[in-house]
Amino acid sequence: MDIIERCKLFVKNRLSDEKSGHDWHHTLRVFENALDIVKKDGFNVDLTVVKLGALFHDVADHKFGYSDGDRENIIKNAIGVHNLSDEQINHVVYIANNTSFSKGKSLETLESKIVQDADRLDALGAIGIARAFTYGGFRKRDIYNIEGDNDTISHFYEKLLKLKDLMNTEAGKKEALQREQFMVAFLKQFFKEINEGEKYEKSHREWG
Ligand code: ADP
Ligand code: NI
Repeated sequence: MDIIERCKLFVKNRLSDEKSGHDWHHTLRVFENALDIVKKDGFNVDLTVVKLGALFHDVADHKFGYSDGDRENIIKNAIGVHNLSDEQINHVVYIANNTSFSKGKSLETLESKIVQDADRLDALGAIGIARAFTYGGFRKRDIYNIEGDNDTISHFYEKLLKLKDLMNTEAGKKEALQREQFMVAFLKQFFKEINEGEKYEKSHREWG
């Protein structure tokens, strides 16, 4: 089995019980998004690093108490030291340690920027809406509350609607714009349907 297929199985097994929105299907979508960006922008990159970076980007997340060192060990064990150059392995580890959506770091290599965009795209659009409410439910948050206090709708304004302007690649930007438009339409309809929606929409617009 080739290294990508082997690592896919490894990550799939590790993420099978993950319920906070960083599940295996998220990883697979990020993998596909990353390849799509490479193709559309015609980038000349180390494709193995992009693929493995995408596969490992949410393994042993810091949110669940893992350190950068823990992640490094897990990734090195999974890849196996003889299969890639040290430089490639370190690059994959760099991607896994730094692309976190919550860290929002600015990255140094094209491969990591591609994976970061691919991960951000999955926080946008219809899938992004679904993931936000899944995560909110996981954290026992309100769908919305008028105080804008730790609710999932607030997350759209605090984070998701800012992502489009943070994209690194042209293909990523273009897709992010389309996905954001869908989210804005969703929010408009959402506010229309709830009581005091107008007031609520206005209070959010002011922060957004
Ligand atoms: P990462 O693991 O890359 O740091 P996050 O855990 O911050 O990413 O985000 C992963 C997904 O969870 C995204 O789709 C994001 O919208 C969602 N998410 C993160 N924080 C919140 C929140 N406070 N409310 C709702 N969704 C959230
Ligand atoms: Ni992710």
